Amino acid sequence: MKIQHFDRQDEAQFASLINLLKECAAHDEPGNSPRCPVEMKFILNHEGAETDVAAFVALEDGQVRGAAIVLSPIEDNTHLSQFNVYVAPEYRRSGIGTSLFEFAAENSLATDRPAWMARTVNAIPGGPARASAGAAFAEAKGFTAALNLHRRRSNLHEADLEVEQALEDDLGDHVSDYELVEWVGTPPEDIIEGVAALTSLIMDQVPSGEVMVEEQKFNAERLRTVEDLDVQCGIKVVSTAARHKETGQIAAMSRAAVNAEPGTEAEIRITLVDPQHRGHRLGTLVKIGLHRQLRRDFPQVVHVKTGNADINPHMSAINDKLGYVEFEKAVIFQRVASH
Ligand SMILES: CC(C)(COP(=O)(O)OP(=O)(O)OC[C@H]1O[C@@H](n2cnc3c(N)ncnc32)[C@H](O)[C@@H]1OP(=O)(O)O)[C@@H](O)C(=O)NCCC(=O)NCCS
Repeated sequence: MKIQHFDRQDEAQFASLINLLKECAAHDEPGNSPRCPVEMKFILNHEGAETDVAAFVALEDGQVRGAAIVLSPIEDNTHLSQFNVYVAPEYRRSGIGTSLFEFAAENSLATDRPAWMARTVNAIPGGPARASAGAAFAEAKGFTAALNLHRRRSNLHEADLEVEQALEDDLGDHVSDYELVEWVGTPPEDIIEGVAALTSLIMDQVPSGEVMVEEQKFNAERLRTVEDLDVQCGIKVVSTAARHKETGQIAAMSRAAVNAEPGTEAEIRITLVDPQHRGHRLGTLVKIGLHRQLRRDFPQVVHVKTGNADINPHMSAINDKLGYVEFEKAVIFQRVASH
């Protein structure tokens, strides 16, 4: 088995890598979609804005039997790198994961960064099977659990619309100072600064447990860059926000990503209410708005998925009311350097 840099020019190697990701998803987290090939194509060829990408493969007879992808933010959070390591199920427990991890650590920006992250999913009682290999591997490599997330999903096509309507009716006067704005992709010019300002609060406001993340500052220009990266990944970011009528301030938003493949799922990126506007049930308002926008404009989307930190009871309560059901857990692992 040869460990080397992923070859961007080699289409067959890319196809073999995509096949590996499919095999791993089917084996380790049945029912979850593998990473979207359109997104992977862009990520693996990416140079420049926001993230440094370093990719490595374990090759045997020209076939990709394992891969490691290291993502390192370059605008902020330059102390951390995120590792994604995959080994084909029939090649496991022979040290390939370890070789890939060590090679990737030495040959990426991670080598000079003190905080390394990795993410795994776990089964819940009665839920779909989830392999424990990822967590065991992370622990064997010195990572510890830094944040636990409940993964929930709602079936938009089967949701009880009467419950949704009753929740909306219940919002009543609480939300009368606000109006909904919807968009897909880059926010319209008249709200982009407001969306950037709210986006800047995410790292500070969303519970992150022990995960060592720093705040991210956004202005309109940086937001345009980030949104453009999503477009190039084939991702549609579907968004509903609440605008404060009097000031025009963007007070809350819920944004979900729909990948090109499979296109039947929306993954919540963020639901956030500005601390100055809490207590007006805006979280529920924007979430209902987002569900309606998805049903209306993205009828092919069946499930909306989300991950709520186990230390975030408020968001979990809103999702429970909206009929989200837990289907797995996720763990953000972290290793803080002694290297
Ligand atoms: C995690 C993964 C990459 C490990 O690949 P691998 O080639 O089997 O890893 P290694 O053989 O180098 O294992 C190194 C150590 O990790 C631990 N480990 C790995 N898989 C394990 C398992 N199924 N059960 C218990 N321990 C395990 C062991 O300590 C192992 O050392 P040992 O075999 O000497 O006991 C592979 O299972 C995989 O692709 N999983 C899906 C993707 C994923 O979850 N990645 C991890 C997050 S980035």
